[in-house]
Amino acid sequence: MSTLDPTSTPSTLWTNCQAATLVAGANSPYGLLVDAALVVQGDNLLWVGARSQLPPELLAVCQRQHDAGGALITPGLIDCHTHLIYGGDRATEFEMRLNGASYEEIARAGGGIASTVQATRTAGAEDLQASAAKRLRQLIDSGVTTLEIKSGYGLALEHERKCLRVARALGQSHAVDVRNTFLGAHAIPPEFAGRADDYVEAVLQMLPVLHAEGLVDAVDGFCERIAFSPAHIERVFAAAAALGIPVKLHAEQLSDSGGAQLAARYGALSCDHLEWLSPEGVQAMARSGSVAVLLPGAYYFLRETKLPPFDLLRQHGVPMAISTDCNPGSSPCTSLLLMLNMACTLFRLTPEESLAGVTRNAALALGLQDRGVLAAGKRADFVLWDVQSPAELSYALGANPRIQTVFKGQVV
Ligand code: NIG
Ligand code: FE
Repeated sequence: MSTLDPTSTPSTLWTNCQAATLVAGANSPYGLLVDAALVVQGDNLLWVGARSQLPPELLAVCQRQHDAGGALITPGLIDCHTHLIYGGDRATEFEMRLNGASYEEIARAGGGIASTVQATRTAGAEDLQASAAKRLRQLIDSGVTTLEIKSGYGLALEHERKCLRVARALGQSHAVDVRNTFLGAHAIPPEFAGRADDYVEAVLQMLPVLHAEGLVDAVDGFCERIAFSPAHIERVFAAAAALGIPVKLHAEQLSDSGGAQLAARYGALSCDHLEWLSPEGVQAMARSGSVAVLLPGAYYFLRETKLPPFDLLRQHGVPMAISTDCNPGSSPCTSLLLMLNMACTLFRLTPEESLAGVTRNAALALGLQDRGVLAAGKRADFVLWDVQSPAELSYALGANPRIQTVFKGQVV
């Protein structure tokens, strides 16, 4: 007799697929199951394995069945570093640069990050939501089911609040999970020009207010000569730690300021960019278990030449994640699939490392234990792809072979 229980949550069986489970330590590359079965119950995966091993009693309780048509199934992609919400764009600036204007001339004419802050402050919440929703739909279209959204273009309480509220609203109105990061220490706003210490003080005032409003899941900063010093960042991190909020850091993007070591001391979830990361920084991250979030879009768009130390990161077992860094200044990118390709071509990651970078390791970078791999008990967030092998996902330049996304067990 079957164990069918009509009162239990309905289960759904997915078959006729390969599954790249990305389970760490699996005995096949990508944790690949060539003839897989997935059983979904509610928001979660109840069972994942070879179809031949599916227990008959489980089959019996599957009220619905989906034929995946031979698709490859991967975990839903996770974009763990975005600045999705901002006013305006910087296309004109891009054009000016290609017509010979220097970065400095553009900055003097009110361009650069200051222009995005100005446009973000001027924009109403509805406009910010509408423009970010367009970008979000493109990310979802490339297979994203979880993403992080940073503030950091408001740089004043009301504008940071406005952006973080928009981020929450986007998560509610789309089939995607949004994690909010407060990046008050992103740049020094014009009214604090030359007064970095005072602005850090203002950031310390904003943090508890925004946190009390339920708008902050993590705290980030930009540690760089042109932004905030390690001493500034440490004040922000200490305040976050006192509130029990996890931290992460834009570190060693343009120079080595020892940001990674500082972040590691605060048990950072991740250190991001890392082109100038030192061997000491790698060791510190290995000790703290921080994820290295590599951002090939910014490296490419800024035409950087210094590569992040991926060999050393590998040797020390630092997990590597890949993200779009979607932002108007250094990475106007809304395709996580394109980042897979660039992680391979520019950063020499293997296709398997790249795919782990937008699934398992991206989940770690957000401190999320419940997703990023296809395994029993994890969230039923997955994507069906029209490809023969997982490597095709990073091989193709500008293609989008997504067939379908399942988010919290439901076909999107
Ligand atoms: O992640 N590095 C700092 N912040 C952004 C770019 C900001 C901008 O230019 O608007 C980044 O690359
Ligand atoms: Fe960034």
